[in-house]
Amino acid sequence: MAREEQRALRFDILTLFPEVFGPFLDATMLGIAREKGLAEYHLHNIRDYSRDKHHKVDDRPYGGGPGMVMRCGPVFRCYEAVREMAEPAGRFVMLTPQGRTFDQALAREFSRSDRIILLCGRYEGFDERIREGLPVEEVSIGDFVLSGGEAAAMAVVDATVRLVPGVLGHRDAAASDSFADGLLEHPQYTRPPEFRGMTVPQVLLSGNHAAIARWRRAQATERTRRRRADLLNTQTATTEKNDG
Ligand SMILES: C[S@@+](CC[C@H](N)C(=O)[O-])C[C@H]1O[C@@H](n2cnc3c(N)ncnc32)[C@H](O)[C@@H]1O
Repeated sequence: MAREEQRALRFDILTLFPEVFGPFLDATMLGIAREKGLAEYHLHNIRDYSRDKHHKVDDRPYGGGPGMVMRCGPVFRCYEAVREMAEPAGRFVMLTPQGRTFDQALAREFSRSDRIILLCGRYEGFDERIREGLPVEEVSIGDFVLSGGEAAAMAVVDATVRLVPGVLGHRDAAASDSFADGLLEHPQYTRPPEFRGMTVPQVLLSGNHAAIARWRRAQATERTRRRRADLLNTQTATTEKNDG
């Protein structure tokens, strides 16, 4: 169900390293979103749900091979306890390089949720039964392998929260971002008008808002064509929508 405008988007982050999130969640946009009551971040240490006397959460892989695998017990118990801490159940996202690639469309979907529970892996990843026995949605932040899901969770939280209505200062700030309408963003300039011989395009100094909008649209389209033609192939219709 769509999130009500005034209700905070709740994140529960399941991790073995909650301490790495502190400054990141406190700073700038994410901290302001929390202060405005638009987002909440709850950290949960998976190790607290281990029943092993040494609080172990990993073990050797059956069949042999390098590294360690995250055990079912602590992850199941952690998820089940956290799930009961609030309503609704929300979306349960397993960060894994094997998942659906996170993109702006998924960030927008997440920003309309009430709650997102993020599961961060470590070591060689998860016992397969975690995928089978829990309602996970597998999400990757790209075709590379991180040593843990924490950096991936931070990327997901950041990209999602800035799309929550009311978080960004300017109403349209996210609307012109890259990917918002299927294009990369147009070039941006600020003062001074000339720096080391490089000048700001005259049209941006003209005060002619229609001409500026046309220039930006053309630049965004051209930049996308040169750098990410794959985006144009899937978004041809939307590229024309603001051309007047
Ligand atoms: C070293 S990786 C394990 C990779 C695993 N052996 C595999 O090949 O799928 C440890 C953890 O980092 C996180 N991770 C690594 N790369 C990621 C990516 N591209 N997107 C999201 N999470 C990632 C996952 O939570 C993963 O369980």
